[in-house]
Amino acid sequence: MVSREQVIEALKHVHDPEYHRPVTELNFIKDVMVKEDRVALTFVLTSEDETLKKQYRQDVEEAMEGLGISNVHIRFRLINQYEREELEAKAQSGDSSRSSAKQEIPTHAPKAGQAPLLGPDSNVQFIAVASGKGGVGKSTVTVNLAVALARQGKRVGIIDADIYGFSVPDMMGIEERPQLVDKRIIPVERFGVKVISMGFFVEDNAPIIWRGPMLGKMLRNFFSEVDWGELDYMILDLPPGTGDVALDVHQMIPHSKELIVTTPHATAAFVAARAGAMALHTDHEILGVVENMAYYVNKDGEKDYIFGRGGGAKLAEELHTELLAQIPLGAPDNHISEPDFSPSVYKADSETGKLYAEMAEAIIGKLG
Ligand SMILES: Nc1ncnc2c1ncn2[C@@H]1O[C@H](COP(=O)(O)OP(=O)(O)OP(=O)(O)O)[C@@H](O)[C@H]1O
Ligand SMILES: [Mg+2]
Repeated sequence: MVSREQVIEALKHVHDPEYHRPVTELNFIKDVMVKEDRVALTFVLTSEDETLKKQYRQDVEEAMEGLGISNVHIRFRLINQYEREELEAKAQSGDSSRSSAKQEIPTHAPKAGQAPLLGPDSNVQFIAVASGKGGVGKSTVTVNLAVALARQGKRVGIIDADIYGFSVPDMMGIEERPQLVDKRIIPVERFGVKVISMGFFVEDNAPIIWRGPMLGKMLRNFFSEVDWGELDYMILDLPPGTGDVALDVHQMIPHSKELIVTTPHATAAFVAARAGAMALHTDHEILGVVENMAYYVNKDGEKDYIFGRGGGAKLAEELHTELLAQIPLGAPDNHISEPDFSPSVYKADSETGKLYAEMAEAIIGKLG
């Protein structure tokens, strides 16, 4: 099978017209995923020029054909402010001679004096995603909120704090493992989001048995041993309920805000209220409630409230917060239509993708 490295290698003759350098060297080829004879990747653009896109599409398709791959899915996106600043800074320091292999592993070593993530000077907004019950969609909300924030140009990280039941890597279609650079763990980046999960440190999905204190330590390591670079938002996907890890997170990040996920059923909302009560008890601000699986849009375009109705609004009222979003039932259509391999990420232009974009905007509005 063709490797990710081969895909990048095959694209090194493609140049960006603004920087006059190979797109691979500029780190413009991201999220490379290979499944058998199919490839998906993200291509970062310096301008929204349709002719340029067309040219790039052709370049990529030809290069992949050379590798025997005929099924290529390209997501184009415009370079964001931070990526531009980083490139400008590199250009100024004359650091343009780095090899493409090196470029693939961005070494955003902490600059002197840079505040650690949990330090008092950290500007990172922490959002812990919690629920009372399992399986209501915390991880789905975590992943899609993170991607939606990144789509709006924010620097976002995810900590999959569900140490036993980690699911974020699978949901985002991540198969690679974090790299070690100077004994620091570099998070895996997907769709502009930096991700760390226990799943990266487990062999062959073998169950791991960690005891309480080790669990706490693991979570701490996710902060102290990982080179996150600078972030605007860090989203933590919590395990269900009000157990040890949730408590740990509350104690470790007292300033984190809580996003409570529930389904519309009254009982679910009732159980979710416990998670909310815990947040309030530990003086955590509740950012809002997300009602997931809120309704199903039937073939006539009408909303069917198959899991009941009103649970999210009631919970928000009870917790004196707002209902931030109502997400309908329905899985992303990625793998049906395209070789996208990110089973739980809704596309930006899908109905649910738009709801997540609105939710991200609302959160940016609230937290800045
Ligand atoms: N809006 C939705 N429509 C359809 N399926 C959904 C939706 N949201 C989540 N799911 C699916 O429901 C299942 C549970 O979702 P998810 O894993 O996000 O929940 P969770 O609260 O994180 O679960 P756990 O408590 O096990 O961590 C997954 O298979 C997910 O793909
Ligand atoms: Mg989960």
